[in-house]
Amino acid sequence: MSHRPVVALVTCREVPHLDDDDAPLIAALAERGVGAAIAVWDDPQVDWEAFDLVAIRSTWDYALRREEFVRWAASVPRLQNPAGAIRWNTDKHYLADLARVGIPVIPTDWLEPSSDLSSRRLHTRFPALGDFVIKPAVSGGSLDSGRYSAGSPRSRGLAIRHAQRLLAAGRTVMVQRYVTSVDEVGETALVFVDGQFAWGARRSAMLEGPDTGAVGTYRKGAVRPVEATAAEVAIGERALGAARELMGEGGGQPWLAARVDVVAADAGPQVLEVELTHPSLYLSLIPGGPDRVARAIAARAGLTSRAACQTTRLTQAPAAAKGCTS
Ligand SMILES: Nc1ncnc2c1ncn2[C@@H]1O[C@H](COP(=O)(O)OP(=O)(O)O)[C@@H](O)[C@H]1O
Ligand SMILES: [Mg+2]
Repeated sequence: MSHRPVVALVTCREVPHLDDDDAPLIAALAERGVGAAIAVWDDPQVDWEAFDLVAIRSTWDYALRREEFVRWAASVPRLQNPAGAIRWNTDKHYLADLARVGIPVIPTDWLEPSSDLSSRRLHTRFPALGDFVIKPAVSGGSLDSGRYSAGSPRSRGLAIRHAQRLLAAGRTVMVQRYVTSVDEVGETALVFVDGQFAWGARRSAMLEGPDTGAVGTYRKGAVRPVEATAAEVAIGERALGAARELMGEGGGQPWLAARVDVVAADAGPQVLEVELTHPSLYLSLIPGGPDRVARAIAARAGLTSRAACQTTRLTQAPAAAKGCTS
């Protein structure tokens, strides 16, 4: 009897039916003979062993529980992307790793909770001119992120209070200059499937003014498809290549899905974010997008499925058996 692979599409309690953007994936997987189950990452009832592949999609609530989330990732078999990538990518300190190996990232000042900064010292860490951003190193969906004006004493005061609130909660604070092209053109999201650049999307500015605290699980913003420039794609490829080298995964199986967000700074394109954990792929905007991802999932689910492993062992096809884990 042939085994129909079943994949888990992983979400969080606040998004129990998957994000609208991911919903078309279920029909696209069915077309390719793959069943899909929506599973909540911290639901103790889920038997992760039962799936041929576990693909993280919408786990927006990990920011305040990162260690728990990373431990969960390490415990799940056949996880996409793998747990090492999840650990590295759930803390934006990864931008400093990328900068060290020469990837152009938005210049960032890191305020660590351990450094016990006074209001006066915080003040000196903010730019003297222009707008700037305060955001936590572990976050997603723009939550707890705020935009401030260096020239306004009131705004600087709000920024200090924002930073202090994050630091008091033990969270690292990132300070960046506000890249003004985000208001004019937005940020460019570069989506990679199976390690190959697949499509681009443009997202409009997300931060309207001083932080007003977390509202809901995430903010979505307006996104539309866009033709990415060769320079943008090149930065995305370099950033992912460097990330793989940093994790010692250079020669291994490419990541199922990844996204690199770039902005146009005066110095050229710079990386704002690399998303390997639950990259929004904007599937509902891209004709053929759901099938492209479903194809990649189906190929992996077939390779790693327990039934396929048994079959390949019987027929002694070592290349096909490579994905077998038990
Ligand atoms: N330095 C910056 N300049 C301009 N906009 C920024 C900057 N940092 C963050 N933003 C805005 O805030 C949003 C969220 O920040 P981001 O770094 O992408 O974190 P996340 O998406 O993980 O919350 C971005 O989509 C962008 O609109
Ligand atoms: Mg972002």
